[in-house]
Amino acid sequence: MTKNCINVGLIGCGVVGTGVANNLVNGTAQKRHLPCELKLKRIADLYPYKERAYKLPLDLFTTNADDILNDPEIDIVVELIGGCGIARQVITKALENKKNVVTANKALLAEYGPKLAALAKENGVDLYYEAAVCGGIPVIKAVREGLAADTIKSVRGIVNGTCNYILTRMGKDQMAFDDAVKAAQQNGYAEADPTFDLIGKDSLHKIVLLCANCFGSWVKPENISTEGIMGLDQIDIRCAYELGYAIKLLAWAKEKDGKLECMVAPTLIDKSSMLAKVSDAYNAVEINGSPIGRTVYYGEGAGMDATSSAVTADIIDIARNIYSGSVGRLPVFALDKEIEVVPAPDMEMRYYLRWKTDDKPGVIAALSNVLTERNIGISSVILHEFAKAQPYSIVTFMTRETKEAKIKDAISELDKLGCIQSKTVMLRVESGF
Ligand code: HSE
Repeated sequence: MTKNCINVGLIGCGVVGTGVANNLVNGTAQKRHLPCELKLKRIADLYPYKERAYKLPLDLFTTNADDILNDPEIDIVVELIGGCGIARQVITKALENKKNVVTANKALLAEYGPKLAALAKENGVDLYYEAAVCGGIPVIKAVREGLAADTIKSVRGIVNGTCNYILTRMGKDQMAFDDAVKAAQQNGYAEADPTFDLIGKDSLHKIVLLCANCFGSWVKPENISTEGIMGLDQIDIRCAYELGYAIKLLAWAKEKDGKLECMVAPTLIDKSSMLAKVSDAYNAVEINGSPIGRTVYYGEGAGMDATSSAVTADIIDIARNIYSGSVGRLPVFALDKEIEVVPAPDMEMRYYLRWKTDDKPGVIAALSNVLTERNIGISSVILHEFAKAQPYSIVTFMTRETKEAKIKDAISELDKLGCIQSKTVMLRVESGF
């Protein structure tokens, strides 16, 4: 039976939740896409009276999520609590109670995605999560719908706005890492505790979801080599630039010989490429597919407006499914194969190596000998000497393609050399997208 009014319950009314509630209550939601009424029936939040960016009707609020989860009139539950604790209970109960769910919770989906998808299927409901990957950029929809005819060969993205803002400040304003983190916090990009962003975990969760959509395979987060930008040195931004590269926190995956290579790491990318030009808190994802070729998706990956746009679009999508009687018919993740993930030590790429060394003859020879002994080629060398008052040099090598295991073995030997004053800094260089 066709429904004339679809009711939504929102659980968690923080920054994004307030944006979603405002979209629904104050009518910015695009009604032209939906031939029935869409109504925000209830909002559950522990703090109904707190100051919010938009004025929301107080009579919508409850402090008890069960008022939404047990309400037989509510069709769509929007979970915007975040994290893997209460949010997991809320989504599980909503699905068990045959309610469709919209969430932006990448951490929860990356950990429990297949289980929650199975529960949604069992109960014949939808679980949508566009806002979990790159906030306002509709990249999940782009892959699922726009690229449905394509075989995806690779996907790579700047998917963490906080880190990109920090790297931009370090690059454009030559800020030190700690100052750039502070600037990100002062400008409202970084959380009070930005650890998840800085250690690459947030990007990891997003690439898991991108892999599921691009390659039809669920990659467990623990199988993806993940490094963040924590403690990145300003000097490396400058040396990379001299070599012709920008450093970006890249989350990437590509199919190679029937296996999947996948990684999150600060990576040197050609400074003339589109991704290198993505600055401040913006996100971008580049997908290489066949027959389409390369496409790039760019926009704001966080914040109230962008993220609430994606959440609201998901609500409208599910409402359309309910209206047209197709709700719960399609899988949450179209997983159709298991692809072996290549362990990081077996991946081949070029590496950027950098040291602070003694300022004396023989240093370059000593460093390059260690690489030569392992048959690792060098494609560029830069040496900066400093004034007598600072008796050290900064030496940078760019290697040719080699396996990560080999470069790590070389680094363990390089770090023992008497001529170096700091341990080797190793960064990966983009290859083969
Ligand atoms: N903290 C994330 C970022 C936003 O900075 O991109 C939410 O995923």
